[in-house]
Amino acid sequence: MKRALITGVTGQDGSYLAELLIQKGYRVYGLIRRSSTVPTERIYHLGDSLNLVSGDLLDEKSLRQIIEECQPDEVYNLAAQSFVPESWTQSILTGEITALGVTRLLNAIRDVNPQVRFYQASTSEMFGKAQTVPQDEKTPFYPRSPYGVSKLYGHWITVNYRESYGMFACSGILFNHESPRRGREFLTRKVTYAVARIVAGLQNELRLGNLDAQRDWGYAPDYVEGMWRMLQQESPEDYVLATGETHSVREWVDKSFAVAGLDYKDYVVVDPRFVRPAEVDLLIGDSGKARKQLGWNPTVTFDELIEIMVEADEALVQEQEASQHAIAALRGIR
Ligand code: NAP
Ligand code: GDD
Repeated sequence: MKRALITGVTGQDGSYLAELLIQKGYRVYGLIRRSSTVPTERIYHLGDSLNLVSGDLLDEKSLRQIIEECQPDEVYNLAAQSFVPESWTQSILTGEITALGVTRLLNAIRDVNPQVRFYQASTSEMFGKAQTVPQDEKTPFYPRSPYGVSKLYGHWITVNYRESYGMFACSGILFNHESPRRGREFLTRKVTYAVARIVAGLQNELRLGNLDAQRDWGYAPDYVEGMWRMLQQESPEDYVLATGETHSVREWVDKSFAVAGLDYKDYVVVDPRFVRPAEVDLLIGDSGKARKQLGWNPTVTFDELIEIMVEADEALVQEQEASQHAIAALRGIR
């Protein structure tokens, strides 16, 4: 039985990757950091098939102990401070987790078992002010946020440990990928959740920032399959995963409202609070290498993704409303 350790297992991708690896017969360990609240919403359904271990990318000793205890064959480093706007307000913390955290984990692996196969969650944000269209593994980087700069460090330290120590370390340069499990602060989910609440009569306005930025949006479960495929190759390499299509934020907003029979212009207000100090204007990926070498292909179209997310949020809001009513009834309020 192969063993895998996933950092960031409580996040969107971590939860899908844990499902995939359990399904493939792995013994899966998920690193979880101490919290006074319960962050297991996305992995609760996995029950005892997922083994949770306590640690933090800020604490190298905890990482070493975990590698010693779990003896993984594969480590997937998905943990990060991943929300771009927060990286300006918490720039040092973002660097500590998203950049130096990668070195801490690589050091721990190297000390305990350098044969471990390592995946680093790199990002299209590293292309930033994109130097070519579309972007592929050879495109020069030009990050536009402390998050992008931190991820670029994580990318290069992964490449460097591969070249310095012969480690099986891969960097997956993934373009935006979304799902009903996306955090509600990210654009796609912020919009689909708002649409569902508007339909339910719970809000009548949605405040957004730059509607002109363009992104290459795919479906998260497809992307975790690509991560796994990278670690099954004969030699470690870096790969871009992307759909090869780009759409504007405005298009995402327009289509999400349209799925619910609404016109976004009646609800959306542009609010400078959500405009970033520096923007990544255009992302579109060329994943030709992954398609050829990994046999990887995205399976969900842009329109299907929007439908999946709007429908899931409509069901979620109905559920939340039903439980609010039940609690209120119990208290005799309604
Ligand atoms: P996410 O939902 O924001 O999840 C981030 C995860 O990192 C959470 O489990 C979080 O734990 C954990 N984490 C944060 N700080 C930590 C620390 N100090 N120690 C240990 N764990 C920590 O992110 P995602 O969308 O799943 O993305 C997964 C990875 O891929 C991230 O590294 C992200 O930067 C990268 N990426 C994402 C995309 C995308 O479009 N989704 C594209 C390219 C690259 P808590 O639950 O405790 O906060
Ligand atoms: N979050 C957010 N909220 N974004 C908005 C808003 C808003 O109110 N209004 C407009 N946007 C625009 C942003 O300016 C950006 O151009 C775009 O919507 C997408 O923003 P996010 O969904 O926050 O994602 P991101 O592209 O900045 O970063 C995500 O993808 C990266 C891969 O390219 C994150 O998942 C990163 O962790 C990931 O690396």
